[in-house]
Amino acid sequence: MNILLTGGAGYIGSHAAVALAQAGHQVVLFDNFCNSRHEVAQRLQTIIGHPLVVIEADIRQTDLLEKALRDHAIDAVVHFAGLKAVGESVAEPIGYYANNVQGTISLLQAMHNTHVKTLVFSSSATVYGVPHYLPLDESHPTSATNPYGRTKLHIEEMLGDVAQSDPTWRIACLRYFNPVGAHDSGLIGEEPNGPPNNLMPYLARVASGQLPQLNIFGNDYDTPDGTGVRDYIHVMDLAAGHLAALDFLTTHPHGRYVFNLGTGQGYSVMEMLRAFETVVGKPLPFHIAPRRAGDVASCYANPGFAASQLNWRAKLDLKAMCESTWQFQQRAARG
Ligand code: NAD
Ligand code: UD1
Repeated sequence: MNILLTGGAGYIGSHAAVALAQAGHQVVLFDNFCNSRHEVAQRLQTIIGHPLVVIEADIRQTDLLEKALRDHAIDAVVHFAGLKAVGESVAEPIGYYANNVQGTISLLQAMHNTHVKTLVFSSSATVYGVPHYLPLDESHPTSATNPYGRTKLHIEEMLGDVAQSDPTWRIACLRYFNPVGAHDSGLIGEEPNGPPNNLMPYLARVASGQLPQLNIFGNDYDTPDGTGVRDYIHVMDLAAGHLAALDFLTTHPHGRYVFNLGTGQGYSVMEMLRAFETVVGKPLPFHIAPRRAGDVASCYANPGFAASQLNWRAKLDLKAMCESTWQFQQRAARG
């Protein structure tokens, strides 16, 4: 298939590009590089072994999207493009709605106009809000606790309406849990601009000496060791989930489907710290800080629906997640 990846130069999109290209698909990246680097295209080419088409544009430029869909005879779109920092979304909600919601409307218009009706959307476990029960399955009630999460919910709802209005749409919303790790080449990975908000890239910078210590946000949660528990999933497993979702959409009836992409296994912040220390071979400095506003004690998936419907399961363990993060960090530090 010819597949357009919006946000394809970003962290998850670039890893999905590798998985899709290595499965024999032609991938076209469509990205405005607001949160990614141009070198990613070259690095992807090195991994994949052949050149990739990269279009530098904003998804709100509907005419350019339409042109890309036509010029490259696109069969399906995987929609990663979006802004994703929770704190920033609280400070700048208009920008978040404009980029994420308006951007998705523009994409849907372009797809409608060009009759490309197969779409995989990057959603998030954030749409479950505060868990009522664990593990989280797809029928858990949805809610949002911040503007970022609300953009994901709005988009999921829009996609439901679109699928219902026209029986030729096939849409999968993939609710990612906590993607971590990197491709084993060490060439691509998560490279946040400025101090990372998320645990794994923060740990990697503490290990490399770029940051003095890890601040553990709370050790008084109702969890086995008091620190927050999350479902960390290797980004290459997540990438494989996109391939499985596209295979599913092309062999199933029209409609909108929702799948959790997680491992089903929760690890605490302290367990993550210890696992990372084992990989880097030295103790890492940490400090117990106050809880971070908006954090929940525990969040992990029931991945059973994806296993039964997509025939997909995460395979890579915590050691692989830490090792690949560390390998990428060391390579990035060397420039
Ligand atoms: P990322 O920031 O690394 O990648 C997003 C890419 O989209 C970037 O390359 C950015 O330049 C591009 N982009 C943003 N707005 C754009 C626009 N208007 N037009 C064109 N390109 C645009 O983020 P990521 O971690 O790869 O996340 C990808 C998707 O997955 C996002 O939608 C995010 O909300 C979702 N998600 C991420 C996580 C996570 O932990 N990383 C968890 C759940 C869901
Ligand atoms: C966060 C976002 C979530 C988003 C996801 C991916 C919040 C409240 N949630 O999820 O909406 O989908 O990132 O972008 O921002 N931790 C520390 N010290 C740190 C960093 C994190 O102790 O320096 C802890 C957190 O308290 C949490 C765990 O590590 O218990 C994981 O945090 P993080 O990687 O930020 O992911 P989430 O909070 O699950």
